[in-house]
Amino acid sequence: MVLAATIRSARELVAQARSRGLSVGLVPTMGCLHEGHLALVRRARAECGFVVVSIFVNPLQFGPREDLAAYPRDLRRDLGLCEGAGADLVFSPEPAEMYSPGFRTHVEVEGLGRLLCGVTRPGHFRGVATVVAKLFNIVQPDRAYFGQKDYQQTLVLRRMAADLSFGLEIVVVPTVRHEDGLAMSSRNAYLGADERAAATVLFETLQLARELIASGERDGRRLRARLQENVEAQALARVDYVAVADPETLEPAAALSGTVLVALAVFIGRTRLIDNALISVPG
Ligand code: PAF
Repeated sequence: MVLAATIRSARELVAQARSRGLSVGLVPTMGCLHEGHLALVRRARAECGFVVVSIFVNPLQFGPREDLAAYPRDLRRDLGLCEGAGADLVFSPEPAEMYSPGFRTHVEVEGLGRLLCGVTRPGHFRGVATVVAKLFNIVQPDRAYFGQKDYQQTLVLRRMAADLSFGLEIVVVPTVRHEDGLAMSSRNAYLGADERAAATVLFETLQLARELIASGERDGRRLRARLQENVEAQALARVDYVAVADPETLEPAAALSGTVLVALAVFIGRTRLIDNALISVPG
């Protein structure tokens, strides 16, 4: 496995792989890797001849009051994990390599990026779309891999890839969970012991949504209210949003049918966690 810190060397290494006839898979990450990321790398390994993992804590997607400086970083550990999962190249640039002085161009996926997480994190998806567009241009992968935990991100990036004709396949890999259901996330590292126990409220709320739909609930507003109550019953939890939405438009779903997206963002203490489920509505 090779480490590249510059765009130029990453491009050269990918070009060499292409000249050997290999297909290229890209797994974009912000490091602090866990089993969720490794599932993406392994899937890329199974499907592509050359696997690139990018590790870059992207300043553009953090708001002014968010945890950019404190975001956990451990490149040495991440490199070992990437190698173990079968990566061929890790691209880990410094911010100045990605955003040279005078940087002014951004990618905005209108509408989709302003709902759900976009309400309390304005500019977040613009930052994500911009950095991922750059990574797509640098690596020019055949496939790029993202986790379903960030459902809205996958929707925004699919739209971007189609709209800007990137001509690659976006592969969405199921969320990897701890035994008690908590979705793997780098931010779980911030949770104290009580908070870690309380954090299962997200998964439990998704399970409740499944149960209520299975037992006949078809009113989106009523379902949302029940789920919100369930989160609020956990003393350490504070709701950012609870959404029962159309999985394509992210607009609130009124009468439930087809497939419905239940998505949550919840503060456990000071740590904001997200999770979601796509639920098929019977009948
Ligand atoms: O999902 C993430 O970790 C980030 O949003 C991504 C896609 C690597 C872009 O910085």
